[in-house]
Amino acid sequence: MRVTVLGAGYVGVTSAAVLAHLGHQVTCIESDPTRLERWRGGEDPLEEPGLAELLRDVHLRFVENPRELSLADVVVVAVGTPMGHNGTPDLSQLEAATDEIRRFARERAVVLMRSTVPVGTCDRLQNASLADQYVVSNPEFLREGHALEDAFHPSRIIAGGPEEARGVVEELYRPITRSRMGQKGNGHPAATPFLWMSARSAELAKYAANGFLATKLSFVNEIANLAQSVDADASAVLESMGFDPRIGAQHLRPGLGWGGSCFPKDTRALQAIADGVGYDFVVLRAAIEQNTRQLCRFAEAIEKDVPRASTVALLGLAFKAGTPDTRESPALALVRRLTHGGLHVSAYDPAVDALPADLGVRLRATAVEACAGADAIVVATEWPEFAEMDLVALRRAARGDLLFDGREVISPAKATAAGFRYYGISGLRRDPEARPAQASYPLRSRVDGALVDGTLVGLRPNREPAGSGP
Ligand code: UDX
Repeated sequence: MRVTVLGAGYVGVTSAAVLAHLGHQVTCIESDPTRLERWRGGEDPLEEPGLAELLRDVHLRFVENPRELSLADVVVVAVGTPMGHNGTPDLSQLEAATDEIRRFARERAVVLMRSTVPVGTCDRLQNASLADQYVVSNPEFLREGHALEDAFHPSRIIAGGPEEARGVVEELYRPITRSRMGQKGNGHPAATPFLWMSARSAELAKYAANGFLATKLSFVNEIANLAQSVDADASAVLESMGFDPRIGAQHLRPGLGWGGSCFPKDTRALQAIADGVGYDFVVLRAAIEQNTRQLCRFAEAIEKDVPRASTVALLGLAFKAGTPDTRESPALALVRRLTHGGLHVSAYDPAVDALPADLGVRLRATAVEACAGADAIVVATEWPEFAEMDLVALRRAARGDLLFDGREVISPAKATAAGFRYYGISGLRRDPEARPAQASYPLRSRVDGALVDGTLVGLRPNREPAGSGP
């Protein structure tokens, strides 16, 4: 099939490369000249594992001219729909892409919507600007750092739209659905189910999946927090939950909160969709609130023990391990909170080599360099290499003995043996008398907007930096 992909980002290039590998003739249109040149030069600006290698193996053209759309049997829309005002997605890139499709795509071409869009978007386009085409919602479930694995071995393929388009979409993915390339929850090879439904159902299925995973993580973090207060071992409790196939063993690791380019955006978009029809999505609202509270709780524990003007060594800046991506990263939100409270931060991340200047962070080339002279060490991203660090060398380099592990990647026993006072997410209680700090903040009124764009707007640590009072 002749496939033209609009947008050379994570979803666009991963989809394009996989479809080319499956034998389709694929062209990828990118309007950003810099990004276009990098892809044409064989470079992967996203640093997604295996993508640059796959691109060398397949025949995939990167072009700028939207006229290429006229050749396509299938147009894949993979432009960005970033978080816009009040949580609803910014659809400006989508509108521009739609305009190009309307002008250049041939009649009855199938338009496959892979961008995450509000429920009803495909129907709206089908009934108006793209009435000559067949608009099909086809959400993706790619994880950064595992995008190719998730694209080649999807747990399901969801698509929805006019019945006339069904055969084309089934044909497009036949090489995957025919083979046992899919994955059951237990990792065993299985046929990938092809789930056809209405466009609205497919659009909601995307938000439902991410909303559920984010809610699962907020629940996991609550269990980790509670375990400490009842003297239970959070990791034993959480691990035991994973043996129940109804719960699933993945996404059970507690931390300082979830972030990234999807969960924050999609949970707020889902909240906005519910609000838009007057439905009070209580569970989702609580999950979002808990995620903000989780970061505050971790920051308070640090602020309680680390005097103002001290230096904190932050290990990890990316929103998760396996990617250089810092979009909506909890680590960056923590940096803003701590520097706002008068702490100095020197940081190290194996994949992040640049930071916004206004962050006021000294980026170091190694963990030891970042920890040199630090009063406390804070782990904020779950990079596996942090579990292998020479803690004795870190203890020697650091001035203070405090180690706050916001991802529970470091062995408490090893840390203690190396001379650190270790505090994991599920062990933030330092003295039995201390109650969890968040009681001092009537959080409900402060949560809304607290983590807009990763900035802790309006939240002040219980120590006012000089001259910043209300
Ligand atoms: C997510 C979904 O997993 C994917 O299906 C969807 O298509 C896009 O959004 P991604 O954003 O790459 O993918 O991240 P994911 O691996 O799910 O992690 C999201 C956040 O949760 C990260 O901040 C991560 O650190 C955190 N997380 C994840 C935990 O705190 N604990 C876990 O056990 C797993």
